[in-house]
Parts: sequence; C-alpha cells; structure tokens
Amino acid sequence: MKIILIGFMGSGKSEVARQLAQKLGLALIESDGLVLQLSKRSNINEIFNQDGEVHFRELEIAAAKKLRRADNAVIATGGGAVMNQIIFAYLKSKPKAIIIHLAAMFATVRRRLRHDRTRPLFANAQKARKLYKLREPLYRHYADIVVTTDNRTPASIVKEIIGKLKRL
Ligand code: S3P
Repeated sequence: MKIILIGFMGSGKSEVARQLAQKLGLALIESDGLVLQLSKRSNINEIFNQDGEVHFRELEIAAAKKLRRADNAVIATGGGAVMNQIIFAYLKSKPKAIIIHLAAMFATVRRRLRHDRTRPLFANAQKARKLYKLREPLYRHYADIVVTTDNRTPASIVKEIIGKLKRL
C-alpha cells in the first residue's frame, strides 16, 4: 500500500503522515526531506534563497522520481507538489497509490503557521492566500479521499482516514 498525503502548507501532512504510518505499520517518507538530501543545502529556505524556486521544483520532481517504486509507505508531499503534473505521474505509478487531501481553511493554516519561519512561500500572507486559492482545486482534483483538518487532532484525522481506507 502506498498512501500519499497532499494539501496546503500547514494542513497537517507531516504529523498526520507520521501517526498514520505508525498506525498502519508503513514507512514514513517526507518529500521535503528527500529534496534536502538531493540538494547541497541545509534547509528549504536556503534552497529558495540561494538556488531559487525553480531549482527547488526540479529537486521536488527528482525526489518524486526516486519515490515512484516506493511501497508500504506513507508519503508526505510538499504543498506545491500539485503544481507539477509529472510529480503525480511518478507518485501514482505502480504500486497503486491512494491520494489523500488534507483540507484546511486558509484561516486555519495561517494561524498554525503564524510563528513559522521555515516556509518561504508563507513569508507573505497575501501571497500565500493567492497560492491557496490557486491550489485548492488542484488538491481536490488529485484526491481519492478528502479529510478536513480544521480544529482537529492528528489522532482523530488518522482515525477518519483509516475508516475511509477500509471503505475504498
Ligand atoms: C511548499 C511547501 C513546503 C515546502 C516548500 C514549498 C509549497 O512543504 O515543500 O516550502 O510550495 O507549498 P509543506 O507543505 O510541508 O509546508
């Protein structure tokens, strides 16, 4: 089984992926972690500042390519994965993937990330809101399952996901 979590920055992908992987006995893979390994940088801000977003996206595609045969894993993608169709072509290649959209209102993600300094594309809330509007329909387009995460604990989100997986 290969489960892919998608959603905007601050939607809860990393923590839900960690708990879901633990509950299902699957490996946990963070796309951003792989991107960092492929870069010569020590954090995401540095990649954006020194190499630019285009280079970050290239690394993100390279990371997805490396993951195309991943199995028995929960993969947390970066919020911008939906901007490149090729990422999904890789991630959805065999074994079959189940794509789960963690949906949260913009007000929720803004609150969760109000002290965050690790996300270059959330440095400006106005710009982040525009990105959010652009991407939300894309997350919905790719998703097999949608779960809302506003005002919920990761544990309750994981429970809902497991219930929905059983009914697929
Ligand atoms: C990005 C989201 C980040 C990270 C990078 C770009 C985006 O991941 O990949 O800062 O374009 O939305 P998270 O969604 O885990 O914050």
